[in-house]
Amino acid sequence: MKIFLDTADIDEIRTAARWGVLDGVTTNPTLYARVGGASYEAILQEICRITSGPVSAEVVSDDVDGMLEEARHYAALAPNIVVKIPMSETGLEAISRCKAEGIKTNCTLIFTANQGLLAAKAGASLLSPFVGRLDDINEEGMIVVRELAEIVAIHELEAEVLAASIRHPRHVTEAALAGAHIATVPFKVLQQMVRHPLTDKGIVQFKKDWEAARAALAAKQGD
Ligand code: G3P
Repeated sequence: MKIFLDTADIDEIRTAARWGVLDGVTTNPTLYARVGGASYEAILQEICRITSGPVSAEVVSDDVDGMLEEARHYAALAPNIVVKIPMSETGLEAISRCKAEGIKTNCTLIFTANQGLLAAKAGASLLSPFVGRLDDINEEGMIVVRELAEIVAIHELEAEVLAASIRHPRHVTEAALAGAHIATVPFKVLQQMVRHPLTDKGIVQFKKDWEAARAALAAKQGD
């Protein structure tokens, strides 16, 4: 499963890239608002200089022409931009027209397998079911990921399931087991995936034992 970072924070993206685990990035207006300080376009271009993987840029227009105008604008920024379009009747039409123009899209705000199926049929290359937001309202978000991954596989659809709204490391494991092609994770969750208290304890113990062995050898050689 590919791992994308769900952030517009350049430092976080650079760090994950240095770790060798970054396959792409997803952004949205909320994530952009969190960092600010530069235009959305400048941030997207910087992200595209760090990773050659897909970088999602989200449109905010309510109508098809507006979405298309934004899609063309973002797609022109870098070859790896994927335009994020929300699920709706308007969104489906915009996705379909982007496909006709060769612009890759990520259909966002998917909460049912049927929405994902329609987005794939319209031509979206990435389908983003939101796991955490479904869990928040007492539903099981991972069911949508599993159903959609099965539908894509059974019908050999040309789309990848991107598990979004990931809130904790267990979501990542479950998304991988459910057949998601990609999980997009906040940087904090990526850090949580790295850590385990027994790993930390083991590193301290190995260092301690190494130093004791070296000290014993030095004492012996000094005899
Ligand atoms: O990329 C969009 C998605 O991952 C949002 O997550 O935590 O705001 O539900 P969240």
